[in-house]
Amino acid sequence: MTSSEIRQKYLDFFAARGHAVISSASLIPENDPTVLFTTAGMHPLIPYLLGEAHPAGSRLVDSQKCFRADDIDEVGDKRHNTFFEMLGNWSFGDYFKTEQLTWWYQFLFEELGLDPQRVYQSVYAGSEDGKIEKDEESIKVLKELFAKYGITAEEGPTTFGKGEDGPGQEIDFSRMRIFPYRDKNWWMRGETIGEPGGPDSETFYDTGKPHDPKFGPHCHLNCDCGRFLEIGNSVFMQYKKTAAGWEELKNKNVDFGGGLERIAMVLQEKDSIFKGDLFSRIIAKIEELSGKKYEEDTRSFEVIADHIKAATFIVGDNKGVAPSNTDQGYIVRRLLRRAIRFGRQLGITQEAWVDKIAQVVVDDYALAYPELVKNKEFIFTEFKKEEEKFLRTLEKGLAEFKKIAVNGIDGVAAFNLYQSYGFPFEITEELAKENGITIDRAGFEAELKKHQALSRTAAAGKFKGGLADAGEATTKLHTAAHLLLAALRQVLGDHVFQRGSNITAERLRLDFSHPEKMTAEQLKKVEDLVNQAIAENYEVICEELSLEEAKKRGAMGVFESKYGEKVKVYSACHLKADQQPDIEGAFSQEICGGPHVKNTGTLGHFKIQKEEASSAGVRRIKAILE
Ligand code: SER
Repeated sequence: MTSSEIRQKYLDFFAARGHAVISSASLIPENDPTVLFTTAGMHPLIPYLLGEAHPAGSRLVDSQKCFRADDIDEVGDKRHNTFFEMLGNWSFGDYFKTEQLTWWYQFLFEELGLDPQRVYQSVYAGSEDGKIEKDEESIKVLKELFAKYGITAEEGPTTFGKGEDGPGQEIDFSRMRIFPYRDKNWWMRGETIGEPGGPDSETFYDTGKPHDPKFGPHCHLNCDCGRFLEIGNSVFMQYKKTAAGWEELKNKNVDFGGGLERIAMVLQEKDSIFKGDLFSRIIAKIEELSGKKYEEDTRSFEVIADHIKAATFIVGDNKGVAPSNTDQGYIVRRLLRRAIRFGRQLGITQEAWVDKIAQVVVDDYALAYPELVKNKEFIFTEFKKEEEKFLRTLEKGLAEFKKIAVNGIDGVAAFNLYQSYGFPFEITEELAKENGITIDRAGFEAELKKHQALSRTAAAGKFKGGLADAGEATTKLHTAAHLLLAALRQVLGDHVFQRGSNITAERLRLDFSHPEKMTAEQLKKVEDLVNQAIAENYEVICEELSLEEAKKRGAMGVFESKYGEKVKVYSACHLKADQQPDIEGAFSQEICGGPHVKNTGTLGHFKIQKEEASSAGVRRIKAILE
């Protein structure tokens, strides 16, 4: 069965069960500065999971284009890709666990003909504080379902904690099929207050690969050895994050997500997603260009295939972005340059070859994603331009390399090649090796860290603040925007999140999630609250915290930084008697790059000029300081 057939069967199967088929949203999120890309099918549907009515009804089905930049470095292990399609079916306060699990299994076993003997399932083990119960309901439904397909399914041992190590005992997979996990089976996009979340139940396929003890003494469903492959996840989105924990949503929702490439891989009985039909023609093209076979260097083939496919989808999106040095454009640049570098490694010597692979991607997906065909000239032109730029970079860097590489290359020199010439460290390393000279990797990494620490603040300010400049008037309006967001949340509720902002010296513009037009009374309340906060003369305190600490405190903002990284948190608050900031009593707390005024008292009078719709579920306020 081809991937196109699987995709179509899935849409048809759920359409026959009352689901409206919706098309994939853009890969570039609408008005949402919290993430660069759509990373899951649920992303564009968050407002509806939180209770807003979807125009197409309470049952939807789709196949969503997704991109996960976090996985760039994982590509190469046969089962990760950065771009993938997520099959999704959705219930907004409609059906729940029984229907979801029953239909999913019916689809897998009866429509696709997957062997039930190879399927295992995880469920939620219950929260540590006992407030959210173990998912006994799903266990019961699953046991009955397995029985229907001729399998006696016992519940296996529970895994507490993060779940990487499993339950710590040998598991008899011939009898046990259903395994409770704690943290692994709670799905949320992030821990910001107001985010939806809930227990989930993941479906795993047993590839039959023997367990590799490198990953722990005993295999289990979430073991990284590669024996079990997750192919689908039924999330029972039923809660909303609050400052105190999780509260029940009005609706019990279903968010199902299944990886099309992985489902195709198991149905087509391949041991790598790159051997499935959504990659096979791309791989064949790379074989033709390089004169090598996939099996000779699986990692290089996978990086090239994955990265060029992802870049084709990002540039070819209806909101497509070209390679650049910022935001999404920077990711495209990184994908393309990395692919070209691995191409070099494979021995592809042609000057322009990236668009030849992109052509295969466009052909493969022409029917499912016609925007690629429409935008193909743009894709090819941008790819060629980027390839030329990178080749020039490589040439210049090569000349510089020859100059400096006399007695070995220290960290500063390697960093200079990287920073000023855009010369990837791996290439410097490769060349040093060819020329028999030493290179200081640790020194390079230390320089890189130093530089990243310096540039992070600037980047955070640019992207997160949405500021036109850092002049005094703009800075004041920026602080006012923080007060406004806090006031909106007080008046409207904590489903309100920032979805975009743009601040000039004349006015601020804030986009935020809220399902309906604000009333005159609400607007007045918000305006008054902001003016009160100005009159309070709050200090605006900046602290550097780890992302985890910032999240724990419930600070608003962008959580895309890596674990452990420091972020700046700006709080508008009073000082306590000991002159320490009273963070607990803060009016507003946001992760932000700044800049801000020192005291809210300097802002003047805040006035809302306009409140209007920005896009579905997003409102826009324009305001000034007089
Ligand atoms: N939100 C879940 C996921 O991304 C299921 O769609 O895995």
